[in-house]
Amino acid sequence: MIEITDIYGRAFKTLRVSLTNTCNLGCVYCVDESDQNRFQKQDILSSNELITQKALSVDEFIEVIRSLHEILGLETLRLTGGEPTLYRDLVPLLKGIRGIGISAIKMTTNGYLLSHKIEQYAEAGLTSLNISLDAIEPEPFFQMSRRRNIQKILEGIIRAVELGLEVKINCVVMKGLNENQIIPLLNFAQRYNIRIRFLELMQMGHLYGNFEEYFFSEQDILDVIAAHTSFVTLPRDPSATAKYWELANGYQFGIISNESDPFCNDCNRLRVDSYGNIYGCLSDNTSIPVHEHLNEPDIMEEKLRQALSKKKKKFSGSTLSMLAIGG
Ligand code: GTP
Ligand code: 5AD
Repeated sequence: MIEITDIYGRAFKTLRVSLTNTCNLGCVYCVDESDQNRFQKQDILSSNELITQKALSVDEFIEVIRSLHEILGLETLRLTGGEPTLYRDLVPLLKGIRGIGISAIKMTTNGYLLSHKIEQYAEAGLTSLNISLDAIEPEPFFQMSRRRNIQKILEGIIRAVELGLEVKINCVVMKGLNENQIIPLLNFAQRYNIRIRFLELMQMGHLYGNFEEYFFSEQDILDVIAAHTSFVTLPRDPSATAKYWELANGYQFGIISNESDPFCNDCNRLRVDSYGNIYGCLSDNTSIPVHEHLNEPDIMEEKLRQALSKKKKKFSGSTLSMLAIGG
């Protein structure tokens, strides 16, 4: 293991692996309106067609992850996408990752395909799920995701909780589209005792130029909740993406203030896309290929130093799509 840190003392300890750059939802913050028609024509039930053929194979992903773990001593691995459950060999991949010995194996998913697969994922080693859910009522859910079948997602969430996985809900709040879902989502999360985090919209992808039109800030979110119920602010954990508040009944909700108060100071994330390129920062589009150098420790170290040097002091937006880099 090599200690690679930048001038701010940041090191890579969390690896986010994007398994595919395809998704089965067409969320407004990811997919440009001009691409929506194409997305709407795709049939969610034939999601095999959506699986990208170019992503690394299970063995290749495992080799990339193992090699990075040997150098960096990773603490957390998070599978992302696009939508990671579209990766055909997710179960064998999870088993392979478990064999590498990283203690926490997590996944961020839209939950659409969870309900009938979650047992297999848990059995294969998945410990934790962040599930994106931007609305709980059918019409706002459609506005946000261009999909109708929200019930499937709710079933998947409840099943994951029943299985004892750590589950969190992520809700990206967009002005004029789903701020009226903050309270219904908060109520849903409380009912099932699931932690919910409201996310400030990030200036990324196709919204890079006009995200302000939709931006709903941490303060805006707090104002909506304050009009409904009282809460107190909890001390911040500097290593966490979210800040937390506690309602009078003890339930805690979070906000990830991606823009107004980002957590970049303590960011320890390294990203790998589905082709085996690494990225040191969400704000930097530079992709650094590593999969051809896995057995060349000096080159790997050099590439990791290069990726770390790309980590910005503060998130400053990117034209990169979350579909490619996985949030
Ligand atoms: P846990 O803390 O383990 O729950 O994971 P997480 O919150 O980092 O992961 P998740 O995939 O749920 O991402 C939640 C939000 O954090 C999304 O809006 C991400 O885009 C944002 N995020 C994740 N990583 C970074 C990062 O490196 N920099 C910034 N600025 N935002 C990030
Ligand atoms: N801003 C904020 N969050 C986003 N996500 C995707 N795109 C954006 C964006 N532009 C969220 C997803 C997922 C997490 C990884 O990031 O909904 O929950």
